[in-house]
Amino acid sequence: MTKKPTVYIETYGCQMNVADSELMYGKLVAHGYEPVDAPDGADVILVNTCAIRENAETRVIGRLGELRRYMKPDTIVGVTGCMAQRLGPRVLEQARHVSLVVGPDGYRALPALLDGARRGEKFTATDFDLEEHYEDVVARRFEGVKAWIPVQRGCDYRCTYCIVPFTRGPERSRKLDDVVREVQQVVEQGLSEVVLLGQTVNSYTDGTHDFADLLRAVGAVDGIRRVRYTSPHPNDFSDRVIDAMASVATVCEHIHLPMQSGSTSMLKRMLRRYSREEYLDCVARMRAAIPGLSLTTDIIVGFPGETDAEFEDTLSLCQEVRFDDAFMFKFSPREGTPATRMPADWTIPDDVMAARFDRLVKTVRGISRENNLKRLGDTVEVLIEKLARDGELWQARSRDFKTVMVPADAGKIGDYLRVQLTGTTGATFTGTPVADAAAGRRERKPLPMAV
Ligand code: 5AD
Ligand code: SF4
Repeated sequence: MTKKPTVYIETYGCQMNVADSELMYGKLVAHGYEPVDAPDGADVILVNTCAIRENAETRVIGRLGELRRYMKPDTIVGVTGCMAQRLGPRVLEQARHVSLVVGPDGYRALPALLDGARRGEKFTATDFDLEEHYEDVVARRFEGVKAWIPVQRGCDYRCTYCIVPFTRGPERSRKLDDVVREVQQVVEQGLSEVVLLGQTVNSYTDGTHDFADLLRAVGAVDGIRRVRYTSPHPNDFSDRVIDAMASVATVCEHIHLPMQSGSTSMLKRMLRRYSREEYLDCVARMRAAIPGLSLTTDIIVGFPGETDAEFEDTLSLCQEVRFDDAFMFKFSPREGTPATRMPADWTIPDDVMAARFDRLVKTVRGISRENNLKRLGDTVEVLIEKLARDGELWQARSRDFKTVMVPADAGKIGDYLRVQLTGTTGATFTGTPVADAAAGRRERKPLPMAV
């Protein structure tokens, strides 16, 4: 028997890329490849890239250089994902050891492209395909407890800073039945948590069903105990979606709700299509419907023309909403986006950007710490996800997305436990297992045990 060719995929960026890498592994395994978890000596090395900010691309360029040292004379290196889509053939010119450049809608062709590359050819495959959902490809999952499920690809918003509509093309949704079928397979594989993925996931529509229908259908799959989704857009939170979240017991009490800025004038320049007041209204509707809801967000500082007053509005919106956590970013101009065509004198100087960023981080971390201190003593259900970085405790996750460290003898990966939150660093918790299922202060009705 001839030895199977090996493939190593290194993934950068968002969960959609993690899910895409799992699909690529699935496609290649079906064509006789063997996945390996290190680049040394692999027959094929793919780098699945992100283009959202300049530093994401700089990292990949550095890494592509480093990967040379792992190459055998016949190793094929490919670049996939958003940076591949954005730069296309420019990648082949800049990195001579790369043979393939494949955008997010081109992964179906990977086995054929690799055959061509083996014959010494080079390829760029960056056409969008509005029908492409990789329905027939069985993802090869590596995550131990949860499954990433893309339900929508692309984006029809045009936020003026964002490269995603250029790299992932127009929005399209999978059929609800196909998503449900995949969720059932995930349960058969022994997983009980799913994360539904889309660029504006709550604008999901398959022509017949909306995101509320999808939450209800996925949430009702036998054996599923936790449903999450990321990332929604504030404008697509219909009452139907909020109702579905509130009434489906498996949907977790956490929403990642990108805010970007707290200033209405800035939101207008960003083309976010909501005002500060509308964002607050969305938060109020969610909180009224879902007790114990935790909220996280994305914030950009230093977008062109950001005034002191606009930045103060961002800080004050953080104070008003009291987010549990936030991903914070310095604005990074992306070639071809409308933000790069704004007047040059709107550019925020680096020192101002850095000072604002520091203040924002301090504000967000302070609020998060205060929120977390209030939680001490609560009893929550956690799912053990992996070994913590110190190698001695388990890292577990509550339904409302708090990270909780639990003792190693408390269970194993994939177990659900009830723990009391006994300590916090301000960001993460330590938890002590408790036996009494009724002890939770913030808990909704206990879920049926998965069989
Ligand atoms: N510069 C900085 N941050 C950005 N994001 C998207 N584009 C940019 C950019 N050009 C942030 C947004 C988005 C998150 C995924 O990345 O906050 O929600
Ligand atoms: Fe980018 Fe805006 Fe689409 Fe999100 S909604 S992917 S920020 S364009």
